[in-house]
Amino acid sequence: MNNFIYSIPTTAYFGKGQISILGETIKSHGGSRVLLAYGGGSIKQNGIYETILQQFGRAGLAYVELSGIQPNPRVESVEEGIELYRNNGCDFILAVGGGSTLDACKAIAAGVKYDGPVNDLFVGEPGGATISEVAPLATILTMAGTGSEMDMGGVITVGADHKKKVIMHPLLNPLFSILDPEYTYTVPEYHSMAGVADILCHLMEQYFTPDVAAKVQDRMNEGVMKVVLEDAPKILANPQDYDARANIMWASSMALAGFQFLLGKPSFAFPLHGMGHELSSKYDMTHGVTLALLTPAWMRHTMSTAPAYLPIFARFARNVFDIREEDDAKAAEEGVKKLQAFYSAIKMPANLREAGVKEEDLNVMAEKAVENGKLGILTPLGKDEVLQILRAAF
Ligand code: NZQ
Ligand code: ZN
Repeated sequence: MNNFIYSIPTTAYFGKGQISILGETIKSHGGSRVLLAYGGGSIKQNGIYETILQQFGRAGLAYVELSGIQPNPRVESVEEGIELYRNNGCDFILAVGGGSTLDACKAIAAGVKYDGPVNDLFVGEPGGATISEVAPLATILTMAGTGSEMDMGGVITVGADHKKKVIMHPLLNPLFSILDPEYTYTVPEYHSMAGVADILCHLMEQYFTPDVAAKVQDRMNEGVMKVVLEDAPKILANPQDYDARANIMWASSMALAGFQFLLGKPSFAFPLHGMGHELSSKYDMTHGVTLALLTPAWMRHTMSTAPAYLPIFARFARNVFDIREEDDAKAAEEGVKKLQAFYSAIKMPANLREAGVKEEDLNVMAEKAVENGKLGILTPLGKDEVLQILRAAF
């Protein structure tokens, strides 16, 4: 196992009614005038918005609103938020929603402390800037999936070709996050299950790395994966199953908290995300759905081109899906089949074609996916390999 530093600076307030600490906790972090950011309005339909305003009123907090942050959030919302924050003398940001709102707010938090264009702050930008200060940020999570509530990253859609760009810095971990599973009761089935696919993929992206005997990380990871597989169907059967919603919400947070299942392992790669973002750029496809579509094809590609790693895929099949097959290649393939059956059970589309992807777009998506270099960690994925995977998923 390699050396690592482990730090999760975000305080999680988890469970029913935890919003009662909101106003005073913002004040304890020096907030007096809050930029209140949310998405397309779901928080007004399910009562969360009213509760927030009551909390603000009790604590004597002033606020300014940024609304309309879209799924796959656009940089224009970030720029609007930076303007609002500056022009109204705000000193705190509260993001209320799913990953899209949270991510937009992370970029706003960094952007308000930076003089140049926000684009400079994205990872890998030529001539880019280093984040050295951010505005104080807290979140209220209303949909489980991305892990943004307890991680240091965000993903913003930029430009005419809708490129998904990443902003990442330890300072972008929220100060605190309120995680009330009841807030997720109203998430539509499609988004609830896309969130489940996202959580599972975050776990798998950290699991499928060269084996460095990081046993604690891998066994904990397998445990969380099993919980996700077990509890997602319970949400399908009953969207108000509190314990299932609670387990899925905590799995979302734990999957990326401090990238804890990647600690001590070879570096960050997340190839499935690299490919999936191209589907979102081209078709505005829901993030978690892109990952469910690509994972089985990526697994089979890796198993066949890098057979040295078959034991990892076989271990996944045995420990997560309880496959009892001794031959590694057969066990690994059984695991992929079980995973596909799970995606089907949570109503993910079966293939890219069914998801509305056009065959003639595969080539350009493969090109764009490797624009900043090859993807992958077990086996490097250049344009040709990405294209093979996209074709296999088609
Ligand atoms: O906008 P509103 O009206 O709130 O509706 C949203 C949106 O339409 C709805 N929703 C959320 N909570 C709800 C609700 N509807 C009813 N009741 C509620 N309680 O759900 C829809 C999807 O919301 P969104 O925030 O887009 O979903 P998600 O949480 O999946 O976020 C996706 C974004 O996060 C990025 C993705 O790339 C994508 O842009 N990611 C962020 C990561 C991170 N920060 O670490 C990691 C991930 O891998 C991912 O890339
Ligand atoms: Zn993801």
